[in-house]
Amino acid sequence: MSSFSSQPLQGMSDLRAPEIFQWQRLERIGTRILEDYGCSEIRTPVLERTALFVRGIGDGTDVVQKEMYRFEDRGGRDVALRPEGTAGVMRAVAAAGQDLQDARLYYLGPMFRCERPQAGRKRQFHQLGAEALGAPNPAADAECIALQCHILTAWGIHDARVQLNTRGLPEDREAVAAGLRTSLEPALDRLCEDCRRRLESNVLRVLDCKQPDCRAVVGDLPPVTDFMSEEARTYLAEVQDLLALLDIEVESNPRLVRGLDYYVHTVWEITHGALGAQDALCGGGRYRFELGKRALEGVGFALGFERVLMVLEAAGTAPAEPTAPHVYIVTQDPCAFRENLVLAQTLRRKGIACGIDVRKGRPFKKQLRAADRSGAAWAVLRGQREMDEGTFLLKHMADGRQEALAMPELLDRLAGGHALA
Ligand code: HAM
Repeated sequence: MSSFSSQPLQGMSDLRAPEIFQWQRLERIGTRILEDYGCSEIRTPVLERTALFVRGIGDGTDVVQKEMYRFEDRGGRDVALRPEGTAGVMRAVAAAGQDLQDARLYYLGPMFRCERPQAGRKRQFHQLGAEALGAPNPAADAECIALQCHILTAWGIHDARVQLNTRGLPEDREAVAAGLRTSLEPALDRLCEDCRRRLESNVLRVLDCKQPDCRAVVGDLPPVTDFMSEEARTYLAEVQDLLALLDIEVESNPRLVRGLDYYVHTVWEITHGALGAQDALCGGGRYRFELGKRALEGVGFALGFERVLMVLEAAGTAPAEPTAPHVYIVTQDPCAFRENLVLAQTLRRKGIACGIDVRKGRPFKKQLRAADRSGAAWAVLRGQREMDEGTFLLKHMADGRQEALAMPELLDRLAGGHALA
């Protein structure tokens, strides 16, 4: 058996204070905006049948072929940790039947891809994503892109670039593949070995090969839209027109294919210059999901939290602070310890955030220092004298003012701005 290590697995991280405050701040802002756009949260299992991802994302994709954490469980079932959120959400929509037919759903949580870890590429990473079910409609796609831009702006990210393309209709696929093969034919000897193989198996993948020679060849290709139907081109033009109407700046990128096979029509990525090689903050598109006899259609996106945080850090955005308790209880004499525990509980039940040191006999000065460090607006000091008098010494931390109060007045004072139960 290997020796114990307290470190998480490679490519995975513990998330804790102080960074977690920034995560929580972003989550609060992001989910509020998603709810303003009519989305409700969905939480699906992180473990699913492998077949869901193979069929949904595509057997030929890198995500399925090379990156999934796939294993046999104790019952011999072939299962995988979700590498992305859309497949699980579509399965849940199919399971719910009519209930979620035209739903707008959002999710937040860990995804798993066993890639080579590097800056901005983790094996456990976190996405905030949304899926709007419904038949193809350029206005829904434009709104979905506008929604992400809204979230990014609210997070303080203003210089991200939206790159837009189309995957066309499923009926266009053959023509696109044939058109690309013919265009690539004269440059065959300049393509890497992988791309020469891809030419037959999945020619679209040649478009996002990172090898410099392949990129040069791809740079000279006609845009994929040249091989698509009029319907696909008109759809893309409508999305572009609506984005202009909504004042969302986008760049057209005819090489953008995205690494998941479920897309039809609009696809996009939002990139940021502070990110380096892994520069996508967010990816999305319209899709068609085949689940057994059912086909589900929708449009959605997912934002990568780790990359959002990298961008904010590079921009020098101040880290978020923890919320301070409203009041901190300081036990002056050990005889007041039990009563003070009760006081803390009473205040918390009334919705007043309250700190207290639960170590009996903790020196008074240390407790006062802790009250100060906690950022509490008030401290309640209580020892033998207050116990005898049935009072509470309320200290205003900013100016040191102190006042002995009975319980009703104490509650009144602390509840300023707090609703009392
Ligand atoms: P994706 O482009 O594979 O799309 O991932 C979305 C975002 O997740 C990326 O832009 C990136 O920010 C983040 N991400 C992906 N892989 C990693 C990684 N290894 N480490 C850190 N961050 C990563 C999807 O997942 C689709 N489900 C999006 C979607 C929803 N399309 C339609 N609906």
